[in-house]
Amino acid sequence: MRINSIYLLRSIVSLCLLLALALVLPAQSITTTTAQTSDETARCLTCHAPRQIKLVETWETSSHAKNGVGCYECHKADPKDTAAKNGHFSFSVQLPVSPRTCAECHPAQYESFAQSRHAEAFETIRNVPLRTQSPALFEQSCAICHGNDLRMQRGKALDNTWPNHGIGRINTDGSRGNCAACHGHHDDSMARARSPETCGKCHHGDVGPAYEAWKASRHGNDWHITAAAVDLNKSDFKPVNEDLKRPDCFVCHLAPSTGIASATHNPGERLSWHLATIHSEHREDWGDKRLAMQQSCRNCHASTQIDMFYRRFDASVLEFNRLASEAASLAGDSKKRTKIKAAAMKGKIGAAMLSPLHVRDAAETLIDETQSEK
Ligand code: HEC
Ligand code: HEC
Ligand code: HEC
Ligand code: HEC
Ligand code: HEC
Ligand code: HEC
Ligand code: HEC
Ligand code: HEC
Repeated sequence: MRINSIYLLRSIVSLCLLLALALVLPAQSITTTTAQTSDETARCLTCHAPRQIKLVETWETSSHAKNGVGCYECHKADPKDTAAKNGHFSFSVQLPVSPRTCAECHPAQYESFAQSRHAEAFETIRNVPLRTQSPALFEQSCAICHGNDLRMQRGKALDNTWPNHGIGRINTDGSRGNCAACHGHHDDSMARARSPETCGKCHHGDVGPAYEAWKASRHGNDWHITAAAVDLNKSDFKPVNEDLKRPDCFVCHLAPSTGIASATHNPGERLSWHLATIHSEHREDWGDKRLAMQQSCRNCHASTQIDMFYRRFDASVLEFNRLASEAASLAGDSKKRTKIKAAAMKGKIGAAMLSPLHVRDAAETLIDETQSEK
C-alpha cells in the first residue's frame, strides 16, 4: 500500500516536472533570441519560434531583427483587409506582406519600384488566354514570375491564388508589386539581392535569356572570381568605390554610379529600347535614359568603348527588326510567330548583354524561318 502511494506521488511529481519543462522550453527559446523586439513581436515568438524554427532563425540574423523589426511589424493587418486573420490570439495578422508595409520604413525604394514595369508585370498579362482557360496552370507558371491578382477572404486564399511571390502581384490593399520577389522573405541579405541568380530566376530561357547572355559575356563569365573578394552585403555599395572589376545585373541596372545616375528601383530609367518584342522601338526620352546607363559603363570604360558598343548595338537592333519583321510577315500561324518573337528577343538581348552565341543563334533561326517560307 505504502509503496503504491510513493509510486503515485513520484509519478505525479514527474508529471508536474514534465509539464513545467514543456512550459519553460518555448520560453527559453525566446530568451535566447538576441533580437530586440516590440512587446507584440515577443508574443508572436512565444508560439512561432518553436514552430517555424528555420524561418525564425533566418529572421534572427537579419538586419531587421537587429533593428527591432519583427513579425508584428511586417505581418500586422488592417482588420478590414480581406487578407486579415482577425482574432489571432487578440491580433489581426496577415500572411502576405504588401509593398505598402515595407514602404512605411522604406518610402524611397517603394516610390521608385512603383514606377517600374516590374510593378506592372501582372497588368501586362492580365488578359492572356491561359488565365481564363486553365487558371490553375496560369497560377503555376506565368504568375510565379509576373505575379497574380491575389484574392483572399478572412485571411484564406481563394482560387489557388496563394502562394504567390511574383513581381507584379496585385495585393489585397490594391497596391502593385512585391518586394519579396527579389528580397528574401526573412533574410534581407544585400548579397542575395545583388546576386545575378536573383534576377536570373525570372530572366532566363525563352522569356528573355538575359541571365544566360550575361553569363556568356566577358562581364559575366568570370564575375564570381572578382565578386568573391568583395563584401556584397555592405550597405551603401557604390560600385565605383569597390573592388568589383566586372559588373553583374544590379551594377548596370540599379546601383548608383559616377556622375548623374543615383540608385534606382526602376531599371527602365536606364533603357533606350523596348527589346522584348518582334519590332523594337525607342522608349520615351531614350537619350537621357541611355546617358544614365552609360554612367555605369564609365566606372570602368573609356568613351570610345562605350560609344562604339552603342553604335553596334543600335545597328544590331535595327537588323534584328528587319529580319524578324520579314519572317513574321511570312509566318503562317501563331506558333511560328511565337518562335520568331523568342528569336528576336534572344538576338537583341544577346547583343545588349554581349553574348556572341545568342546573336548567332537568333540570326540563323530568323534567316532559316524566312527562307523556309519563301
Ligand atoms: C498563442 C500562439 C500564437 C500567437 C501568440 C501568435 N500566433 Fe500566429 N499562429 C499560431 C498557430 C498555431 C498558427 C498556425 C500555424 C500552422 O498552420 O502551422 C499561426 C498562424 C499564423 C499565420 C498564418 C500562417 C499560415 O500559413 O497561414 C501568421 C501570418 C501568423 N500566425 C502571424 C502571427 C503574428 C504576426 C503574431 C504576433 C502578432 C502571431 N502570429 C501570434 C500561433 C500563434
Ligand atoms: C521584414 C518583414 C518581415 C518580418 C520582420 C517577418 N516577415 Fe514573415 N514574411 C515576410 C514576407 C515578405 C513574406 C512573404 C509573403 C509575401 O510574399 O507577401 C513572409 C512570409 C511569412 C510566412 C509564410 C511563409 C512560409 O514559409 O510559411 C510566415 C509563416 C511568416 N512570414 C511568419 C513570420 C514570423 C513568425 C516572423 C517573426 C519571426 C516574421 N514572419 C517576420 C516579411 C516579414
Ligand atoms: C518598421 C520598419 C520596417 C519595415 C516594415 C521594413 N523594414 Fe526593412 N529595414 C528597416 C530597418 C530599420 C533596417 C536596418 C537599417 C537600414 O539598414 O536601413 C532595414 C533594412 C532593410 C534592408 C537591408 C538594407 C541594408 O542596407 O542592409 C532591406 C533590403 C530591407 N530592409 C527591405 C525591406 C522589405 C523588402 C520590407 C518589406 C517586406 C521591409 N524592409 C520592411 C525597417 C523596416
Ligand atoms: C520564368 C519567369 C517567367 C514566366 C514563367 C513567364 N514569364 Fe513572361 N516574362 C518574363 C520576363 C523576365 C519578361 C521580361 C523580358 C524582357 O524584358 O527581357 C517577360 C515578358 C513577358 C511579356 C512581354 C511584356 C511586354 O513588355 O510586353 C509577355 C507578354 C509575357 N512575358 C507573357 C507571359 C505569359 C503569358 C506567361 C505564361 C504563359 C509568361 N509570360 C511566363 C518572365 C516570365
Ligand atoms: C528587381 C529586384 C528588386 C525588387 C523587386 C526590390 N528590390 Fe530592393 N534592392 C534590390 C537590389 C539589387 C538592391 C541593391 C541596390 C544597390 O546596391 O544599389 C536593393 C536595395 C534595397 C534596399 C537597401 C537600400 C538601397 O536602396 O540600396 C532597400 C531598403 C530595399 N531595396 C527595399 C526594397 C523595397 C521596399 C522594395 C519593394 C517596394 C524593393 N526593395 C524591391 C533589388 C530589388
Ligand atoms: C554591362 C552592363 C549590363 C549588365 C552587367 C547587365 N545588363 Fe541588362 N542591359 C544592359 C544594356 C546596355 C541593355 C540595353 C539597354 C537599352 O535598351 O538601351 C540591357 C537590357 C536588358 C534587358 C532588356 C529590357 C527590355 O527592353 O526588354 C533586360 C531584361 C536586362 N538587361 C536584364 C539583365 C539581367 C537580368 C542581368 C544580369 C543577369 C543584366 N541585365 C546584366 C546592360 C547590362
Ligand atoms: C520574380 C521575377 C523577376 C525578378 C526576380 C526580376 N525580374 Fe526583371 N522583369 C520581370 C518581368 C515579368 C518583367 C517584364 C515586365 C513587363 O514588361 O510587364 C521584367 C522586366 C525587367 C526589365 C525591363 C524593364 C522595362 O522597363 O521594360 C529589366 C531591365 C529587368 N526586369 C531587370 C531585372 C533585374 C536587374 C533584376 C534583378 C535585380 C530583375 N529584373 C529581377 C520579372 C523579374
Ligand atoms: C565594373 C566594371 C565594368 C562595367 C561597369 C562595365 N564593364 Fe564592360 N568590361 C569590363 C571588363 C573587365 C571587360 C573585359 C576586359 C577583359 O576581358 O580583359 C569588359 C568588356 C567589355 C566589352 C568587350 C566585350 C567583348 O566581348 O569583347 C564591351 C563592348 C563592354 N565591356 C561594354 C560595356 C558597356 C557598354 C558597359 C555599360 C553598359 C560596360 N561595359 C560596363 C568591365 C566593366
